[in-house]
Amino acid sequence: MPLKSYGLEGVVAAESELSCIDGEKGILEYRGYDVHKLAKNSSFEEVAFLLWYGYLPKKKEFEKFKNDLRNRREVPEEIVELLKLLPSTTHPMIALRTAISFLSSFDERLEDYSEERNMERSKRLLAVFPTIVAYFDRIRNGKEVIPPDPHLNHTANFLYMLRGERAGEIETRVLDLDFLLHAEHTMNASTFTARISASTLADMYSGIVAAIATLMGPLHGGASQKVMEMLLEIGEVDNVEGYVKRALAAGERIMGFGHRVYKVMDPRAIELRKLAQELGEYTGDLTWYEISEKLREVVYREKGLHPNVDFYSASIYANLGIPVDMFVCMFAIARVAGWTAHMIEQYRDNRLIRPLQRYVGRKNLKYIPLEDR
Ligand code: CMC
Repeated sequence: MPLKSYGLEGVVAAESELSCIDGEKGILEYRGYDVHKLAKNSSFEEVAFLLWYGYLPKKKEFEKFKNDLRNRREVPEEIVELLKLLPSTTHPMIALRTAISFLSSFDERLEDYSEERNMERSKRLLAVFPTIVAYFDRIRNGKEVIPPDPHLNHTANFLYMLRGERAGEIETRVLDLDFLLHAEHTMNASTFTARISASTLADMYSGIVAAIATLMGPLHGGASQKVMEMLLEIGEVDNVEGYVKRALAAGERIMGFGHRVYKVMDPRAIELRKLAQELGEYTGDLTWYEISEKLREVVYREKGLHPNVDFYSASIYANLGIPVDMFVCMFAIARVAGWTAHMIEQYRDNRLIRPLQRYVGRKNLKYIPLEDR
């Protein structure tokens, strides 16, 4: 008989004050604030503050916080050298994972688990993720890296380091909101991984490395890359019907659709859909948005599935000129806010996470010595 909680479905693995989902109503809140309201009024950096400190910052506090992040964007020269050593064919998430692992050896107080140190590490991690991702992309394309610009906010600076020129206001705002919408999402697989790691009292970098590794999978953050590969294969709106029918008949999954918790449309996808359209209109290229719209209609009709967070983000990243294999890095750049906040929560009130299994293997076998087998 299959386990009732197969894939840990329905299992409450931790108590958390960070975010809350109502999957039936399609509600997502960060620290009690509706994600639609935050998307309308807030920024990714403000949401990171909210997740870590539990409240929305006052003006002065926020200025200081943004400054703290700005001052932590640089990476040691050895990290740049490491990125240069990696084959240019390395997946950018593997480059990020490797660089964060290496970064831990520069933390001289790795054994210090105080909340103060972990908050400091969280800021550093959040600040350097964009630097590492942008640097690796430039290095693998044989270009010089572009140091962070302290005059730009987190997202504008990322696009600047990636492209070598400042991005437009709309592009920056769309990506910033995309980061805001990806910042935290209860007990998803990568966050759970980070919490398990913290529960063994492993250091924060180890948990983040494990979380990056988990996020990469195509059923989790890796889905946006797969969505883009699907959009490229479909090519035009008229091909959508045929693609979906063939894929479903072959028992394939349509990437960017379905969710373990949401039974209605993912509230993040609602926001991202608007942003994908807005960005498409701005760049004058609505190809991916229009194919996505048709896909949404056909997949719902044929299978009753709604798009998730990874669906419209693919069109957004494509329109921002972000390389397809870097799509999942966008998720990581944002979700490191949630991972670190969860690890801090776990360290604060820790108990080793150690579930059980149901043994389904053979029992009471007669042992036959090697020479008699
Ligand atoms: N395409 C086709 N069928 C699907 C899909 C899909 N995308 N998602 C679920 N189903 C079907 C599945 O085949 C199964 O049907 P049946 O009962 O007839 O066998 C049923 O829905 C339930 O599927 P499940 O795998 O038991 O559901 P789950 O809660 O374990 O899966 C999921 C959740 C996200 C892994 C799944 O919906 C999926 O594989 N989606 C595509 C990958 C994807 O977009 N991942 C991103 C998830 S959201 C953001 C994130 O966490 O990163």
